[in-house]
Amino acid sequence: MTRFQNKVAVVTGAASGIGKSTAIRLDSEGAIVIIVDINENQLKETKKLLSNKNSSAKILDIANINDIKSFFQTLKKDYKKLDCLINVAGILRFDNSHEVQIDDWKKIIDVNLTGTFFMCNQALPMLLESKGSIVNVSSSAALGSHAWTAAYSASKGGISAFSKTLAVEYGIKGINVNCVCPASVKTPMSTKVNLPKDIDDRLLRKIMPIDGVNRSPDDIASTIAFLASDDAIHINGINLRVDGGLLT
Ligand SMILES: NC(=O)c1ccc[n+]([C@@H]2O[C@H](COP(=O)([O-])OP(=O)(O)OC[C@H]3O[C@@H](n4cnc5c(N)ncnc54)[C@H](O)[C@@H]3O)[C@@H](O)[C@H]2O)c1
Repeated sequence: MTRFQNKVAVVTGAASGIGKSTAIRLDSEGAIVIIVDINENQLKETKKLLSNKNSSAKILDIANINDIKSFFQTLKKDYKKLDCLINVAGILRFDNSHEVQIDDWKKIIDVNLTGTFFMCNQALPMLLESKGSIVNVSSSAALGSHAWTAAYSASKGGISAFSKTLAVEYGIKGINVNCVCPASVKTPMSTKVNLPKDIDDRLLRKIMPIDGVNRSPDDIASTIAFLASDDAIHINGINLRVDGGLLT
């Protein structure tokens, strides 16, 4: 497929998991991909897997608003245009809600919610010129009940909510803004979790895959690529669950 031929896409969180798979998928469909992350070594590894010689890798902490501003100034200078913004970067931790520490709460909100929003905020002027698309990675935690993740669930609920705001505000100007809400994907985020010691196992059933299978990040990347492409031209403001039926 060549759905992204001559298109410029930014993918955050591209050093690992879903972001890495998404960068590789867009590259395989012809995109120039600018991959960003805070993990320099792993980002270099992703970059090596991209075939388009015009693609590039940039270290960017999406919790730093000034760095986001400089990133888009440089992007405009170097690439002249932006067609797709794919916000995948995110962090997760599990705590009993009465034990959540304010610093952990702030960090999760800063990265997942504020970071994702300001990536959109700074990308929108270029996307207005290209009539491009935004795909934000939310979570089943935004839509269903998800124990021990108050900050994460709040951040993902916020992403799903503000994405609908952007979808109507900019949809009439030619930009699509959609969310993908995954669950049970085999990545470092889901395989290296530290659950609180005293959890009630009955609540695990609400977040475990119903068929017992954690899917590959490639299975989320294919959905993200669809929503970012012109194939999804008439889709705007949705939260597309890619959760194996978890919330059905
Ligand atoms: N794995 C799942 O089952 C699952 C389920 C639902 C939603 N998600 C969402 O998918 C997205 C990707 O998660 P994943 O499973 O691939 O996890 P992952 O940990 O493999 O990848 C997350 C990436 O984000 C990067 N990152 C973290 N903080 C950053 C920051 N401040 N600035 C820039 N980059 C930063 C990390 O370095 C990492 O490369 C996340 O938003 C996550 O919430 C994952």
